[in-house]
Amino acid sequence: MQFTDLKTQYAALKPGIDARIQRVLDHGQYIMGPEVKELETALAAFTGSKHCITVASGTEALLIALMALDLQPGDEVITTPFTFAATAEMIVLAGCMPVFVDVEPDTCNIDASLIEAKVTSRTRAIMPVSLYGQVADMAEINAIAARHGLAVIEDAAQSFGALYQGRRSCALSTFGATSFFPSKPLGCYGDGGALFTDDDALAQAAREIRVHGQSARYTHTRLGVGGRMDTLQCAVVLGKLERFEWELQRRAEIGARYQRLLADVPQVTVRPDRNSVYAQFTVMVDDRATVQAALQAAGVPTAVHYPKPLTLQPAYARYCCAECCPASSSLAARVLSLPMSADLSEADQDRVVAALHAALQ
Ligand SMILES: Cc1ncc(COP(=O)(O)O)c(C=O)c1O
Repeated sequence: MQFTDLKTQYAALKPGIDARIQRVLDHGQYIMGPEVKELETALAAFTGSKHCITVASGTEALLIALMALDLQPGDEVITTPFTFAATAEMIVLAGCMPVFVDVEPDTCNIDASLIEAKVTSRTRAIMPVSLYGQVADMAEINAIAARHGLAVIEDAAQSFGALYQGRRSCALSTFGATSFFPSKPLGCYGDGGALFTDDDALAQAAREIRVHGQSARYTHTRLGVGGRMDTLQCAVVLGKLERFEWELQRRAEIGARYQRLLADVPQVTVRPDRNSVYAQFTVMVDDRATVQAALQAAGVPTAVHYPKPLTLQPAYARYCCAECCPASSSLAARVLSLPMSADLSEADQDRVVAALHAALQ
């Protein structure tokens, strides 16, 4: 059993993906080839966002969004410490100060009720993370942002395809930033990512920043980065879109089945006004190392997202005290992600559930 089954997915999509890759090899436009625009058009339509700008990775998407917003050194960006490091890392690399707000113990997403107390005269943006595939409380976050004139960047690296109050993740705020890392709900075969926005000026800024700040060839109107997503990776994502709706349906079914079969095990709560695309299906266990070892012995791969909140990581400790996000620290010690992908069979899922129940006895 694999933690994320990309081989079965490729076997199912092979003719389409191979043909698309071959087409790129035939036309030879490896950088900014026609597949880039084709993918951007498809993803903008899928999310309901006016603009989609593909970029080199989810990390680059976050950085480009911050740069497009023209944040200045010392500006503060409110975010969660219970995330992959890239979220806060890009805030720091953009010259800003990450301000950490703790998460809700049941959803693991930023606790919107704690945000407003952290807004200062230097706050410029809020960067919630839609962790494990479930969108954070965007309505509350957008309302706080509107009251204080802040931008909102949804780190949607794990939630592409998720629905929130009937709308898609990535199309819910100033910017949505996603990742096409291979194991993400929509992945490529290398690095890739995308930014989404309804704002014409921000979209134009992001397009320029992606190509070293060029508004025309060799006219560098602003500071940028080498942040393009290459044509081959765009072709792969286009190939993956062929059955993406089916995959979302399967993920929902497999997630619901895990919820049912593991009803006796503490697990991430999904709020009724949204769904999860289950980038991870995550439970909370005590004595995680023992449980993980027992599962491994039973042939069940697991992973921990994430073993430490950023508030406890040396590189970020100076932005926060170690004790100021207790829910994040407590969750980090207990979360355990189980095998999850659209091709996970019922038989394998039953093995996971049986092995976990046995380990918890
Ligand atoms: C929450 C979050 N943000 C950002 C990223 C960075 O994405 P990428 O690996 O495409 O740079 C990831 C990927 O792991 C992520 O999970």
